[in-house]
Amino acid sequence: MARTIPAPQGLPLLGNTLQIPAHAPTEHFVEVAARYQDEGVFRLEVAGRTIVMVFDPDLVAEVCDESRFVKRIRPPLSIVREFGGDGLFTAEQHEPVWGQAHRILLPAFSQRSMKAYFPQFLEVADQLVASWAARQGQDLPVADDMTRLTLDTISLTGFGHRFDSFNSPELHPFLQAMGGALTEAMLRNQQLPFVTRLKRRHEEAYRRDIATMRALVDDVIKARRAGGGGASGDLLGLMLEAADPRTGARLSDENIRNQVLTFLIAGHETTSGLLSFALYNLLREPHALARAYDEVDRLLPGDEPPTYETIMKLDVIPRILEETLRLWSPIPAFGVSAIEDTEIGGYPIPKDQGVGVLLPVLHRHPGAWERPDEFDIDRWLPEQRRNHHPAAYKPFGNGERACIGRQFALTEARLALAMILRRFALSDPDAYRMKIKQTLTLKPDGFTLRVRERRAHE
Ligand code: HEM
Repeated sequence: MARTIPAPQGLPLLGNTLQIPAHAPTEHFVEVAARYQDEGVFRLEVAGRTIVMVFDPDLVAEVCDESRFVKRIRPPLSIVREFGGDGLFTAEQHEPVWGQAHRILLPAFSQRSMKAYFPQFLEVADQLVASWAARQGQDLPVADDMTRLTLDTISLTGFGHRFDSFNSPELHPFLQAMGGALTEAMLRNQQLPFVTRLKRRHEEAYRRDIATMRALVDDVIKARRAGGGGASGDLLGLMLEAADPRTGARLSDENIRNQVLTFLIAGHETTSGLLSFALYNLLREPHALARAYDEVDRLLPGDEPPTYETIMKLDVIPRILEETLRLWSPIPAFGVSAIEDTEIGGYPIPKDQGVGVLLPVLHRHPGAWERPDEFDIDRWLPEQRRNHHPAAYKPFGNGERACIGRQFALTEARLALAMILRRFALSDPDAYRMKIKQTLTLKPDGFTLRVRERRAHE
C-alpha cells in the first residue's frame, strides 16, 4: 500500500508558510528533517505549493535517476529566471538553447582551459594575499574578501573584465544589487503572490537591482565588442563566436546577456562560500590545518609563484575542500520534478511534483556517513571513497544539470587556500560561532579572522 509522506501540521489555507523564518528557510528545513529522520522525506505546503524534501541517500538515489526526474524551473529558480533568463542555470531542459549553450561552453571548462586561466587565477589570488599582508592583525571580513577574490576571478577569466575589488573598501555595486536580488528571490519563494504584489517598495528595489546588474553586463559585452580585453577562447569569446557543434546554432544577443549575468553570479557566489567555510573549518581543526601547512611547505617552498602542475599535485587541500562541501554545502538544495507518476521508497510522487534534495541533511546522514558531524578529510582518501554511498554527496547537483563550473571552482579554491596558507598563520581571537546567512546560497555571517606572516619576506 502507498505510504503518505509525513508533514508537520499546518494552518488551513496557509499550510506551513508562516512556520518558515523568511531569512533562514534552510535552518528550518533541517529542523523539520530531524523529526522525520526515519522516513528520510517530508512534505510542506508553502505559498500554495506542495514541497517535497528528500534527504535519505536511498531516496536521493531514486530522484537522481534522470530517466524518472528532470530539473524544472520552479520557485525559487523561476524567480531567479527574472534576471537569469534562459542562461544555463535557469533554462528549461527542453529549451533548445540549454543544449546549445551547454555544448558551446563546455570547452571553456576542460582541464586545458583551467591551465590557460591559471595566470589570471594567480593574479587575483596574489591581490588577496597582498591585501591581507597589508592588514595583518586586523579583523578581516572573510566572506567579503572571498567574494572579492571569486568575483574578480570569474570576471577576469570569463570576460576579461577587471572589478579590481581589492582596491575598494566597499563591495562593488554589482554585488550589492546581486545580494538584494537573490535575497528578494528567496523571500518571494515563501510569499503568497498577493503579498509580493503588495510590497511595492520591495518590487521597486528588486527592479533597480536587476537593472544595475544588467547595466554592468551590457558594459562588459560592449567593451569586448569594441575590442577591449579578454581572450577569444574565454567564456565571452565562445558565446560571441562559437557555433553549437551539433546544430550549428549561434547564441542570440539576448541569450548572451543572460549567460554573462548567470556566470557572473553562479561563477563566484558559491566558491566564495566554499572558501569561507573552509577557513572556518581550518581554524577549528588544528590537525587538518597542520597537515595543510606541511603540504604547502613541501610543495610550495620559497616565494616562487605556484605552477598549475604543482597545484594539481596537492592532496590535503583538495580533501579539505571536499569535506567542507560535505559539512557546509554553499547550495542548500537543488530541485527536480517527476516526469511521470512514480514512487520513491513506496511514497507516491505524482507527475510534475517538485522534489528538493536537502543537502545539509543528506551530507550528514548517519545511514551514509560514520561520525557524520566530524570534520575528517581522510574520508576522501581513494580507498575510503570507494565505500561512500553513491548518492550521499551532491554539492554540485546531479547528472546533465550538474555544475559546469566544478573544476573551475575547485582549481581556483585550491590555489587560493594554498596561497593563503603558505604565507599566513591564521587566528580567530573572537572564537567565531557559526551563524549562517542565507541569500538563497549559504555563507558564514560576520566571520572574521586575523593573519600574520609565517615567514619573513624580502
Ligand atoms: C549548476 C553548485 C561553482 C556555474 C550548479 C548546481 C549546483 C552548483 C548544485 C546545480 C543546480 C541545480 O540543479 O539547480 C556549485 C558549487 C560551486 C559552484 C557548490 C562552488 C563551490 C560554479 C562556478 C561556475 C558555476 C565556479 C562557473 C564558472 C554553474 C552553472 C550551472 C551550475 C552555469 C548551471 C548548469 C546547467 O544547468 O547547465 N552549481 N557551483 N558554478 N553552476 Fe555551479
